[in-house]
Amino acid sequence: MILMSYIVTIQIFFLLLLISQTSANINSEKQALLDFVGAVHHGEKVNWNHATSMCTSWVGITCSPDGSHVIAVRLPATGLRGCIPANTLGALKGLTALSLRSNTLSGKLPPDILSLPSLRFIYLQHNNFSGDIAQFLSLRLSIVDLSHNSFTGKIPTSIRNLENLTGLYLQNNSLIGHIPHVNLPKLKNLNLSYNHLKGPIPSAFHKFSESSFEGNSMLCGPPLDKPCSVSLCISPSSKKLSKGIIVAIALGGFSLLFLLLLILLLFCSKKNDVSQNSDHKEKEEKLREDFGSGVQEPDKNKLMFFQGCSYSFDLEDLLRASAEVLGKGGCGTTYKAILEDGTPVVVKRLKEVLVGKKEFEQQMETVQRIGQHPNIIPLRAYYYSKDEKLMVYDYIMAGSFARLLHGSRETGRTPLDWEARLEISLGAAKGIAHIHNVSGRKFVHGNIKSSNILLKANLQGCMSDFGLAPLITTSVHNTGPGYQAPEVIEGRKRTQKCDVYSFGVVLLEMLTGKPPIQYSGHDDVVHLPRWVQSVVREEWTAEVFDVELMRYHNIEEELVQMLQLAMACAAKVPDTRPSMEEVVKMIEEIRESKF
Ligand SMILES: *[C@@H]1O[C@H](CO)[C@@H](O)[C@H](O)[C@H]1NC(C)=O
Ligand SMILES: *[C@@H]1O[C@H](CO)[C@@H](O)[C@H](O)[C@H]1NC(C)=O
Ligand SMILES: *[C@@H]1O[C@H](CO)[C@@H](O)[C@H](O)[C@H]1NC(C)=O
Ligand SMILES: *[C@@H]1O[C@H](CO)[C@@H](O)[C@H](O)[C@H]1NC(C)=O
Repeated sequence: MILMSYIVTIQIFFLLLLISQTSANINSEKQALLDFVGAVHHGEKVNWNHATSMCTSWVGITCSPDGSHVIAVRLPATGLRGCIPANTLGALKGLTALSLRSNTLSGKLPPDILSLPSLRFIYLQHNNFSGDIAQFLSLRLSIVDLSHNSFTGKIPTSIRNLENLTGLYLQNNSLIGHIPHVNLPKLKNLNLSYNHLKGPIPSAFHKFSESSFEGNSMLCGPPLDKPCSVSLCISPSSKKLSKGIIVAIALGGFSLLFLLLLILLLFCSKKNDVSQNSDHKEKEEKLREDFGSGVQEPDKNKLMFFQGCSYSFDLEDLLRASAEVLGKGGCGTTYKAILEDGTPVVVKRLKEVLVGKKEFEQQMETVQRIGQHPNIIPLRAYYYSKDEKLMVYDYIMAGSFARLLHGSRETGRTPLDWEARLEISLGAAKGIAHIHNVSGRKFVHGNIKSSNILLKANLQGCMSDFGLAPLITTSVHNTGPGYQAPEVIEGRKRTQKCDVYSFGVVLLEMLTGKPPIQYSGHDDVVHLPRWVQSVVREEWTAEVFDVELMRYHNIEEELVQMLQLAMACAAKVPDTRPSMEEVVKMIEEIRESKF
């Protein structure tokens, strides 16, 4: 008994010790932050003072879940001016993220900041810091943005130790010297432009583009056009070679190179021939061969056009057109057909249509009427016979959002920038909101996925595939895997909130660059919303974002806001999801908050 109470007392003692230590930590961090903000000028937005609780009410501060440390300080564009004293921000031992970009901070950056052992993300771009960049760097650094300042001196060689560095931005400073030789396999984004760096670009950096190095007149070697001067490579003994021999060697070298080039050229052109031929063969397929038999003689030429449609072709033309399969889905097969005059159209061939002619026609009228919106792909014509049901749409050149997001880089896909992603998402959201709002809010799209968002010129996102759900057996017509709301999987009725869920998954796709479901060995399916939730819960949100987005500056806040919106859309409980109208408003706000 006595022993028991003794143990309990000791436990309580340690607990108290722990608590008092936690509060001592947090109080010293509060003081360090007050020292920082006392030393610099700042705008009114910075509401920090002794009397209020740092973790809950101070602008720009995030504390660890147990309240023991400050883990993030974010004060972008808050009018900070002056020098940061040592032992202020550098005293935040648990700091993982620091953003002070777009202020007018100046003077030396105290070395205790970059060496904070837990620091991973530092954004100080667009200030006027000067002096050298400290040698001692936190080994955990992942993104370092010191661009657009007045840093001088050399790039610290210690960057070679930063095994997790993914982004290094040092452009528009006054850095000198050689670029250190490093091997940083995770480094995806690098910008050293507009400094005074010199010498050859290390081979590990040849994979970056020219624009990562521009504005350094003394840099040479790939990817720059400027070769490094040969004299550097000639050993003293070769100077003894006579001019004649050098010329001979050079000529020999050239002819060898020429020969190689010739062989390469021949080889490539052969290959091209082959691939073009096979392309041609695929396209040779005529629509007639594929489904002409389902078209009944008396019905020919009964392609029903909607008013105001400028196409002039009939069913016979359509059947003669060469066609290419664009996709196969639950509703049927989609073809791109090229008419004889060169006009491309999209033909959707529906399978397992359940409804009769009258109902089908009514539905087509509805689809056409609702499709009169800039963010919906318009239906131009349709065809109905017993065995064949076709829908004809405009062909959209730029392809689908899915292809732009997930298409492989080998096929010439260029990374999609943040503004484009926002714009496309907004367009698609407007299209869905329109479908939801017309006719007494009774329509559900039912099949929202990134491959159904097509892009018109100027990256205008448009919804396609609307109005098919009511025509087709529900068992066949399934939303793509990974897009279905949990209640749909449970077999409940589709509502507009199910569309919101699917759209949330699309937003997560565009933020993470990941497909809606991933397979993790043993047939385990990981749904994107669950994956994102687990990563965000872990600690730090930056890990979830597409690395392609990490190269753009000053968008962290927008990314986080968009992520919050996406998660709200993909919430488990339908009632907590916003309406599409609200989603449109929120995306517009995020877009406007840019500066
Ligand atoms: C930035 O700091 C340097 C000195 O370190 C100074 O010469 C320069 O005028 C400053 N630039 C601005 C825009 O304040
Ligand atoms: C780098 O990242 C890996 C995986 O996230 C982690 O296990 C490792 O500890 C990190 N290294 C450092 C030095 O932080
Ligand atoms: C970066 O520096 C270069 C050269 O001084 C200048 O031409 C360019 O406008 C700067 N970029 C920005 C965004 O300030
Ligand atoms: C690097 O920075 C310069 C100047 O701000 C910019 O023009 C260039 O596009 C950037 N390059 C990359 C690869 O980000």
